[in-house]
Amino acid sequence: MAFLQWALPRLELRWPGFRKVRRQVIKRITRRIEELQLVDLDGYRRYLEAHEQEWLRLDGFCRITISRFYRDRWVFDALAQEGLPELIRLCQNRNKRRLDIWSAGCGAGEEAYTLALIWALQIAPQAPAVPLALTGTDADPVQVARARRGCYPSSSLRELPAPWRDLAFTAEQGQYCIKSEYRRPISWAVQDLRKALPDGSFDLILCRNLAFTYFSSDLQRAILRHLDARLSPSGLCVIGVHESLPEMPAAWSLWRPGLPIYHKAG
Ligand SMILES: C[S@@+](CC[C@H](N)C(=O)[O-])C[C@H]1O[C@@H](n2cnc3c(N)ncnc32)[C@H](O)[C@@H]1O
Repeated sequence: MAFLQWALPRLELRWPGFRKVRRQVIKRITRRIEELQLVDLDGYRRYLEAHEQEWLRLDGFCRITISRFYRDRWVFDALAQEGLPELIRLCQNRNKRRLDIWSAGCGAGEEAYTLALIWALQIAPQAPAVPLALTGTDADPVQVARARRGCYPSSSLRELPAPWRDLAFTAEQGQYCIKSEYRRPISWAVQDLRKALPDGSFDLILCRNLAFTYFSSDLQRAILRHLDARLSPSGLCVIGVHESLPEMPAAWSLWRPGLPIYHKAG
């Protein structure tokens, strides 16, 4: 704990976000200490002080990758029932040719694929066709490779309605692999949210269980400005259910009470 409390602020990360998941990080650091044939955390601390490049490695060890399909399902249900139909109407009124969604810190793709499934199975059969374009970005190349592969253990799908699972996935070597038609609207990129943003503007941004949990307050404010810059007028931004914004951007307001979804004035 003392080591993390010393190191995290130097990476612009915050200790409270890591309290519950610290074991995952410590395990990776312990493996690294063994690899470097160091004795203990004090040795690793000295190693960090002498090797600037090692901070990049440590930064990688601090990526928490927990996710699953339909995580916090009431948030997705609200998007399916009201959020997406509202955004579709907006696109149509503005003669916008498609609806753009960005999953920032997309993990292994669970969040973006959940939206692709909602779109294909719930929205498209009812609404006049507005094409969907999803962008998933994550700093971790392994996560992005997993997203591109689109195969998951059953535990990742446990919150997904069973008929959707049966319809949208094929069983391959003990895993569930998402069918190609649900992959088509999504493009993936390895991108560090602190350094780069995808091009364009987005009608819906999901930035859940990343910046507003793990990043320092100053970094959170900077990220919020970036999200605001990328969010279209009248767009929606979703954060994690246990997260809060460091401040409210001038044009933003809570979309619905009790939901971690913000609306930008149009
Ligand atoms: C806890 S997961 C959240 C996944 C998904 N958004 C969700 O809520 O289920 C956090 C993800 O953020 C990624 N991540 C960590 N630091 C990042 C950064 N600086 N830029 C972009 N992605 C990052 C991690 O690799 C991980 O996949």
